[in-house]
Amino acid sequence: MVDATVGHGGHSYLFGKQLGPDGLILGLDVDKNCIIRAQEKLNSLSCKVILVRENFSNVAEVMAGKGIGKVDFILADLGFCSGQLTDSSKGLSFQENMPLDMRLDNRLKITASDIINNEEEESLANLIFDYGEERASRRIARFIVEYRRSQPITTTGQLAAIICKSLNQPVRGRRHQKVHPATKTFQALRIVVNDELGRLEKLLADSPRLLKENGYIGIISFHSLEDRIVKLNFKENAAKGFYEIITKKPIVPLREEVISNPRARSSKLRIARRI
Ligand SMILES: C[S@@+](CC[C@H](N)C(=O)[O-])C[C@H]1O[C@@H](n2cnc3c(N)ncnc32)[C@H](O)[C@@H]1O
Repeated sequence: MVDATVGHGGHSYLFGKQLGPDGLILGLDVDKNCIIRAQEKLNSLSCKVILVRENFSNVAEVMAGKGIGKVDFILADLGFCSGQLTDSSKGLSFQENMPLDMRLDNRLKITASDIINNEEEESLANLIFDYGEERASRRIARFIVEYRRSQPITTTGQLAAIICKSLNQPVRGRRHQKVHPATKTFQALRIVVNDELGRLEKLLADSPRLLKENGYIGIISFHSLEDRIVKLNFKENAAKGFYEIITKKPIVPLREEVISNPRARSSKLRIARRI
């Protein structure tokens, strides 16, 4: 199987326990620390484990390079891990003050700070609207551009405060407010910095030819832009006769799971079978 987003190895470990010594897991992640963590976690498995620090958009090349033919299962659990949210070098959190970076892969060239400080107002507004689905995108972009005239925006704290101010919200968000006012803008920047949608489309486009007959693909997404891409891709592949869609509606977490793991609240799992 391919675990396209091996993270700390949680999913791979559970699958690996079901695989005997003939099984193979190819785990990918763009974050070096995740590869190290996954290595430790998956050490004790009896199946073969190959971990590669690579973007899942290049999974076909990695498989060819390792001499791996078609697989029985491709799994992707998109986005970022909780550990990455608190890792100050990643700059993903608006709850804590961190350098405004957002690259999951620190080999990428452009950071969120580069975008926030250099994009024109209209293009910033469009980006926040398109990738954050934020209705107040124009107002937020205006406040960002006004602020950066006097000083560069280099931290997540600065950006979160500017967004809150533009929306007339207290800087820490309102008490008991479920979703922080900066959530959508941060999502937009993360998507652009990491080219999340383009990479996902490439993985999905390659998957039919990487799966064995009767192999499965399972994708867990965390926001509607990703979920729409997965849904559409499965539909198109079903129309071409490549996939049978197993989840007519996506599988979502139970209430209890959301209570114990609030970050799961927006997750959706879609599964298809290669025909
Ligand atoms: C939600 S976590 C996965 C957690 C994992 N399922 C586990 O059980 O620990 C998502 C992981 O995907 C990685 N990631 C995100 N986009 C990626 C991409 N395009 N290619 C490879 N890895 C990616 C992130 O670095 C992160 O470690």
